[in-house]
Amino acid sequence: MKMLIIYGSKHGSTEDVAKKIAAQTSADIVNIEDNQNVDVSMYDTILIGSSIYVGQMNKVLKKYLKSNVDSLKSKNLYLFLCRGQQEPSIEEMVETNIPEYKDLFIGKMDIGGEFRMSSLGFMEKKIIKVVSKGKEQPSIQNDKVDELINQLKNKA
Ligand SMILES: Cc1cc2nc3c(=O)[nH]c(=O)nc-3n(C[C@H](O)[C@H](O)[C@H](O)COP(=O)(O)O)c2cc1C
Repeated sequence: MKMLIIYGSKHGSTEDVAKKIAAQTSADIVNIEDNQNVDVSMYDTILIGSSIYVGQMNKVLKKYLKSNVDSLKSKNLYLFLCRGQQEPSIEEMVETNIPEYKDLFIGKMDIGGEFRMSSLGFMEKKIIKVVSKGKEQPSIQNDKVDELINQLKNKA
């Protein structure tokens, strides 16, 4: 199985997870913000990873996915989302962000998220202060990351 991980990350938590998965599965990896002309022809499995901001997947990644449904729909497609909340469901997140992919993912996984306070801007800090008031700080769920890695390895 030749796998490519395509991810979009603003403050690095999605990137760290994508790199961990790549290291453990020997997958190639691309940051969509660095390269939107990804050649997927040599891969049979593609893992998409995105963080969520105000309900939205990474904008560059979304644009890439919408423009490349034809070349991606024949692949074994997986998705992970890095986000502070687990609601709405990951199925709803796909439907609202990338409805073209509604029935295309073999596996979808929420892996938690984290607030990297030192790298957040003023407005971002304000938003999360309001949104997360009284709630526990989110964290990356390593058990979910490991579950996803196992799914991907078993596919090989
Ligand atoms: C301004 C802001 C808005 C956010 N909005 C959401 C959201 O709507 N839903 C959610 O589940 N998480 C939300 N989060 C949490 C991020 O998805 C989480 O911090 C994630 O780990 C960020 O990934 P990144 O470090 O790869 O950018 C938000 C975080 C910030 C700072």
